Order: sequence, then C-alpha cells, then structure tokens
Amino acid sequence: MPPFAFRAPARILTGSGAALEAGAAMQATGARHVLVVSDPFILAGHAARAVVATLADAGLQVTMFDRVDGEPTVRLVDEAYAAAVQAGVDGVIGLGGGSAMDVAKAAAILAKHGGPLARFEGADRVPPGRLPLACIATTAGTGSEATRYLIVTDEARDRKMLVSTWECLPDVAVADPALTRYVPTRAAVAAGIDAFTHALEAYVSRRAQPLTDGLALNAIRRIVPALPRVVADPSDDLAREAMSMGALEAGIAFANASVALVHGMARPLGARFGIAHGMANAVLLPIVCGWSWPAAPARYRDIGAAMGAIATQGDTPADAGARNTVAAIVRLCEAIGVPTMAGLGIPADAYAAAIPAMAIDALASGSPANNPRVPLADDLERLYRAAYFGGTEAAVAMAR
Ligand SMILES: [Fe+2]
Repeated sequence: MPPFAFRAPARILTGSGAALEAGAAMQATGARHVLVVSDPFILAGHAARAVVATLADAGLQVTMFDRVDGEPTVRLVDEAYAAAVQAGVDGVIGLGGGSAMDVAKAAAILAKHGGPLARFEGADRVPPGRLPLACIATTAGTGSEATRYLIVTDEARDRKMLVSTWECLPDVAVADPALTRYVPTRAAVAAGIDAFTHALEAYVSRRAQPLTDGLALNAIRRIVPALPRVVADPSDDLAREAMSMGALEAGIAFANASVALVHGMARPLGARFGIAHGMANAVLLPIVCGWSWPAAPARYRDIGAAMGAIATQGDTPADAGARNTVAAIVRLCEAIGVPTMAGLGIPADAYAAAIPAMAIDALASGSPANNPRVPLADDLERLYRAAYFGGTEAAVAMAR
C-alpha cells in the first residue's frame, strides 16, 4: 500500500443542538469578533437565530453578513471580504448551505491575504494562514463544513471558479440535524443527491484511500435509505440525523479523495444554465456511472451493496453487481423526484449548442482525471448529449 495523508477539521460537532456549541468552539480558536456569513432565508428561521444568539452568549462580538441568497458569486465574495475588513473581525463563521459556507471560506482567506479571489483559483495557490473559520451546515448536502474546496460563480467568465486548498478546511465543522428541518423539498433533494454523489465519487476516485473508503461507504449506507424519507417527511428526525451525518462523512471523504467525472461535468452545466449544484449532479449521475463502471466494476458493486441493492457483496460477480448499482441509482433518483434536464427548464437547442464548450470546461477542472474511466473531450460530448437526449434508459443501456 502506498503512503497516504488524511485531514479533517480539528473540531467536529455533530448531533441535534451541536450548533449551539459553535461559539465556544470559535472562542477556543482565539477569535473574539466574528463575521457571520449567512442567508436571509436561513436567518428567518428560529433555529438559526438561536445559533447566532449563542455566539454572543459565548462572548463573541458578532457582525452579520446576510446577503447570500442562491448560488455564491465573485461579487458576493467581494462584499463579504469588504464587510470583514470594515468590521475588523478576527474570525469568520459560515451559517447556511454550501453557498454561505463557501463565501465564508473566501472571506476568511481574503481577509488574511487580500483579493481578488481569482488569483487563488486552482489547486494549492493560497499561502499558509487565514482567519479562524467555523462552518455550520444548515442543509445535509455539500459537506462543505469539512472540505478543502470553495466554488463560486464567476459572472464575468460565465463559469465556476474552484479554489482547492487546505486553507479552506474549517477549524470547526458543525453538522446539526436540528438546522436542516426547514429546508424546502427541492433543495433537500438537490443537497441529498449531492452528498450521495460525493460519497460515490470519493469511493471510485483514483485518489481513494483506506480512510476515505470507510467514510464513503458509511455515508452511502446512511444516505440511501434516509433521503427518500426526508423528502417525504422533513419532520422525520432519525432520517435527518442520518442525512446530516452521511453528508459530513461524504464531505470528509471527498476532501481527501476528490470528486470525479460527475462533478467535473456538473459545474459547467450549473454555471451556464443556473442549475443548483446538486440537481446538476443528479441529472448526470446515472449516465456517468453507466459509462464509468467497466473501469472499476468491483468498486461500483461495493456501492450497490452499501445501497442495499445487492444482497451479499461477495456472492455477486463484479460486472453484474456494478450493473445493479447503476439501476439502483436510477431508482433512487426517481424515488426522490429528480427531474429531467428539460424538466429543469434547460432549453434543448441552447444545451446542444453549449456541449463543446461545457466539455472543455469540464476537462479543465481536473476532476475527470480522478474518474476510474478517464474521458477524452469526445467522450464528454457524448455523455452530455446522452444525459439530455438519452434519458435514464441510456444509462441503463450503457450499463448492460
Ligand atoms: Fe458537490
């Protein structure tokens, strides 16, 4: 076995009510005046307001930045950075979904090193250091509370900007299921399938390692039964606990093992057509798995076993198991009501015209190189075409 390195946030708070301890955990990092980056919808809820109140109770001075609504942008990052500098904060807390957490990460880095964010685009381009950082997840999905990534839309270039660095890994990660109760159904579907995709891609990634394998399969075991239950009944506490823990495990797994082709293709789709990140993954997931499994059939069979779709892992030949996994992924997407691309409002003609450029952007992100089956630009164009015009039948047919 080759040597591996593995990292996770220094403090990880989980379970119902965990977020109420975030202030004390931030105090322990040395922070005294924090910028809370959040969104107005989240802050309208009692649970999030209670979290903010406990920050003051813990002795922290609090400056609010509550303008994150929708996908994060370079403009929002600039505004949050300016707010951090103007207030003179010495710590940053992201309270929300992936958008708020990613803007918080950027503000903590820029407050230390200066802007613009674009100079840090890519892998490992941030110098050491940033303000102390806590991320409190209010959706069970992105796992951003435990990752080394931030992704924001660069409006000027019509694409997603990925900053990948351990400086994005928070000091304090909070996955509190009590905060996920009031997430709208469509957002819960998108977030949940994003978490599932993180676990799947961490497990099949060429950069997977023993520690990430265990976390990824555990995440799949939790997420697959819980996700349809949360979508059907957001008050199902046990299912929300499973989703919260599963999303966190998946986040730690892919922070160390990386994501792969689904994410590589989803980013250009999201950037060009304004599709929520999780939904962009969801509409690509079956077709990409159907195309990828022949390069690592045993890995895809393991995923099916963790999903509960294959009775006994050892008794199922790898190829047959991998095909069952693809079929199970299609069923999971149907069970939680993932729409088609047309159903998401993506116009067929504009999509077809964008395919070559999306293929180039996907390759440039680097994520496809982590996939067990590594695509060329031609492959990416075919996969984009099949994902829209072939439907789920194409994924199942590909898996045969
Ligand atoms: Fe993701």
